[in-house]
Amino acid sequence: MEITITEKEQKGKRPADSSLGFGTIFTDHMFNMDYSPEKGWYNPRIEPFENFSLSPATMMFHYGQAIFEGMKAYKTSDGSIQLFRPQENFKRFNKSARGMCIPELDEKFALDSLKTLLKIEKDWIPETPGTSLYIRPTIIATDPFLGVRASHSYRYFIILSPVGAYYAEGFNPVKIWISTEHVRAVRGGVGEYKAAVNYAASLYASEKAKKQGYAQVLWLDGVERKYIEEVGAMNIFFVINNELTTPELNGSILPGVTRNSVLHLGKKWGMNVSERKISVDEVIAAHTNGTLQEVFGAGTAAVISPVGEIRYGDKIMNIGNGKPGDIAVKFNNAITDIQYGRAEDTENWIEKVL
Ligand SMILES: Cc1ncc(COP(=O)(O)O)c(C=O)c1O
Repeated sequence: MEITITEKEQKGKRPADSSLGFGTIFTDHMFNMDYSPEKGWYNPRIEPFENFSLSPATMMFHYGQAIFEGMKAYKTSDGSIQLFRPQENFKRFNKSARGMCIPELDEKFALDSLKTLLKIEKDWIPETPGTSLYIRPTIIATDPFLGVRASHSYRYFIILSPVGAYYAEGFNPVKIWISTEHVRAVRGGVGEYKAAVNYAASLYASEKAKKQGYAQVLWLDGVERKYIEEVGAMNIFFVINNELTTPELNGSILPGVTRNSVLHLGKKWGMNVSERKISVDEVIAAHTNGTLQEVFGAGTAAVISPVGEIRYGDKIMNIGNGKPGDIAVKFNNAITDIQYGRAEDTENWIEKVL
């Protein structure tokens, strides 16, 4: 398929790297493509970033049939532009599509068209270490119809946003709050897909956590409310008695690309690595007996995010004297060094754009 390109006449200006937050500024262009049952995916185009005009009856507005991805483009010190494991994101995008009755994309075409968009927007990629261009591929259901069923038509789009740190805390440890009352997803549901509805389902508890001074919610499993699942926008790792462990993928946890990268590197470095059930009781016991060495989140937005405090009911567990742990630092350095081209891409994780 040929991509039609319409360039914006008056280009915008990228703000200073130091002023970048997360997800508020968008680049000049976006990618759009439509789907109909007759044509399949058709009319791929790069055009100026602009508002959509959609019927108020558009199914996505009512029933939330929408999926998305999140990845980043990095500028290296020699000025080249690269992506980190983007094939994994498109694979997961298609898995989310299947789970939400959305037609799949051709993964190679999806990656090629993202690269074409990035080449046009290359001046929007910030340069300071820690900054990047966040990439948001999204598919929405577009039938104007009020009955409940899977839509027949869809829009796929990609928007780009130059970003700085995801958390105001930067790499400083964040505080997270275990929700005892609310759950995000259950096995058999759609928790393992990057579906918009999972994020809507997480808002009530997230707002509650924020009011109490916590950055995010640490979710427990939706059935027994006993086992740790993940954080709002990150997977979670514990170092307990020299074992690096993370909750096993059970159908309600998002299979993070960063999670997979941490597991891979941990094994390669000869650490005692496991994916298993981790109960909140085990974490409390480890904290009490002094074997809870480190806790950190792993996700594209913040890469590695050390956790300095976990609250569960009235119990507050402090971890690591307010400082990032050595293991969190080691993973953060190893992954960001590859992403920013400071280290050799020994794992073949880098996809060059320019
Ligand atoms: C719910 C959830 N879990 C985990 C992650 C981490 O996944 P990844 O490492 O692919 O970014 C994310 C998002 O980025 C997320 O939204």
